[in-house]
Amino acid sequence: MLMLAGCNTTSKFETTAEGAVKPIIVQGAMPIEAENLAKKLDKVKVEKSGNFVFYKGTLNKYPVIVTKTGKGMENASAATALAIEKYDPIAIINQGTAGGHDPNLHVFDIVLGKKVTNIGSFKTEMKDENEGIDPTQWKPMDLMASEGSGADADAEKIRYYEGDAGLLAAANAVKDKYTKGKVVEGTIGSADVWNNEIDRIKWFHDNFGTSVEEMESAGAAQIAKAYGVPFLGIRVLSNNKTNGGAYNPNTAAANQDYVYEVAKKYISTITGKDKK
Ligand code: 5AD
Repeated sequence: MLMLAGCNTTSKFETTAEGAVKPIIVQGAMPIEAENLAKKLDKVKVEKSGNFVFYKGTLNKYPVIVTKTGKGMENASAATALAIEKYDPIAIINQGTAGGHDPNLHVFDIVLGKKVTNIGSFKTEMKDENEGIDPTQWKPMDLMASEGSGADADAEKIRYYEGDAGLLAAANAVKDKYTKGKVVEGTIGSADVWNNEIDRIKWFHDNFGTSVEEMESAGAAQIAKAYGVPFLGIRVLSNNKTNGGAYNPNTAAANQDYVYEVAKKYISTITGKDKK
């Protein structure tokens, strides 16, 4: 049996219904967040569907599909559902740039999404005409809590999507290979909003523990959870309004270099080549 398993390379790996090895999906929203990594894969074949671009290749002979999803929650969610249906991935990493909510984090630091949350899903207070608007009173709305509408108390709490333990372990194991900043575990907040109001950013940080904000991870995490696919968000700070960190687009490539190391480590773990 052992000999057989040793001879048949695919039998060691989790396979799809068609018998293919289950790929790792690595998502990036913008060209600068996907193309650097796509170039590092071997034997790349490009597949397109709608606005989504799937760079299907291999890394250390293991199948990896880099996806250019486009920006925002809708693109990220749809690209995730499509990728799961089309390719039956073993895991999904959503990576790219983000804005800091934590003043202790600086441009080029990387946040591993121990938790990911939607910071655009809220229910407002009741107010009559001319009573104004009061965003700090808004209650988070958990989109996964129930299938009904209206006053469902269960839905009035923040939903955190947990980062997968195996992916987090791989990411932590290669932390030292990243030299442009620190790598920390934290909470990624996502919405189709770019916040520039410091008090609002502080409100998210104080109330929901957000380390950074961006526009994709929570959408992808929600769909990955719906299908039970392991998921991790990995985000580099390209800017941080809370400590004057000016936008630097070079962070996107740096993050992909780190995610490349994470993917290699994860592959060596799932293929059993990582015995230590
Ligand atoms: N706020 C929101 N999105 C940000 N992004 C980078 N920094 C921020 C920020 N401060 C990312 C989003 C989106 C694109 C505009 O850049 O994820 O894809």
